Amino acid sequence: MKTKAGILILSDKGARGERQDLCTDILRTHLEKNDYTVSDARILPDDYDGIVAALQEMAEHCALLLTSGGTGLSPRDNTPEATMAVATKSVPGIAEAMRAYSMQFTDRAMLSRACAVIRNRTLIINLPGSPKALEETLAFILPPVKHGVEILLEQDADCARTGDTKSQSHEGGTL
Ligand code: MTE
Repeated sequence: MKTKAGILILSDKGARGERQDLCTDILRTHLEKNDYTVSDARILPDDYDGIVAALQEMAEHCALLLTSGGTGLSPRDNTPEATMAVATKSVPGIAEAMRAYSMQFTDRAMLSRACAVIRNRTLIINLPGSPKALEETLAFILPPVKHGVEILLEQDADCARTGDTKSQSHEGGTL
């Protein structure tokens, strides 16, 4: 059975229907390419309480939750705070690697406040809100993230066995 993933888009304009959502399709395509089935996809405004409630609900039935948007410096950007509020553990390396990798595309990558956390048996990862940024980062993070989810779900207990798959896992640029 395929691992269940959820997509949560945070955008005031997107939730009001004032901006076409291109992010869900990009996220779905990359997730399906990596053997996940998308069982829940939502678009919400950037309200802290609504994001917390959605993350709690979606984590009940998704092993991987990808959020997109609301990670910048605008007063309405609340995604990292809501994500940290539902965390049971922190996984700082994912967002650190994403920011470092993204600096080759734009030095504004340093403005991302994205975080990655575990909530019980769910890995939650914040991604930026632009379709361009998603295309730049998803192929880079998803192969190592897949191993992380397998460990979290106790489907693969041995990190050493799979070794360093960096050279096989993406064809993108270098760090
Ligand atoms: N990362 C990549 N790979 N490409 C980008 O274009 N945009 C940055 C950053 N990360 C960007 C990126 C910008 S401009 C911002 S403000 C932050 O992500 C936060 O984006 P968000 O508010 O849409 O989540």
